[in-house]
Amino acid sequence: MSEESTSFEQAFHHSAERHERVWIFMALVMLALLTVCAMFYVVYDYGVVVKGAGSIRDPDSVMDTPAFRDGQLVQTGPDSYAVHVVGHIWQWTPGVIHVKQGSEVTFYVTSSDVLHGFEVQGTTINLTAVPGAVGKVTYTFSHAGTYHVICNEYCGIEHHSMIGSIVVDPKDAS
Ligand code: CUA
Repeated sequence: MSEESTSFEQAFHHSAERHERVWIFMALVMLALLTVCAMFYVVYDYGVVVKGAGSIRDPDSVMDTPAFRDGQLVQTGPDSYAVHVVGHIWQWTPGVIHVKQGSEVTFYVTSSDVLHGFEVQGTTINLTAVPGAVGKVTYTFSHAGTYHVICNEYCGIEHHSMIGSIVVDPKDAS
């Protein structure tokens, strides 16, 4: 081999490596972007609650926590309310929630056993009930009617019958 061809090979390898590095770098950047976008989508658009309004050390004893045990709609402002909801196999507590039309309701949701999905049909409310974590979502019920609360996370044999309801009473009703 002459000196000339050796330096040609060296130059070729050098430029090839540089191109490879560029592509590897671009692939890593795209991977990082994809990961961030996926997380952003899951948390902000799909509504999955990763970390919520608090935590519960012992999910088994969640019903010992007064707010969750009582399951009462608590007035927090002129038109705003809060309610604590527990998902457990295979029902929601409270099972029926009554609110006045126009109410802004903040739901604090957890589970006492396995993962459940707290979804209120006809609304944008959709969060995961996670044992040990409390998810929080606020929604204003502008229309009267009955909204079904379904479980959208498979939780066992009676998953499909885990249905609650939110009854929104018309504003002018006494
Ligand atoms: Cu609870 Cu499915």
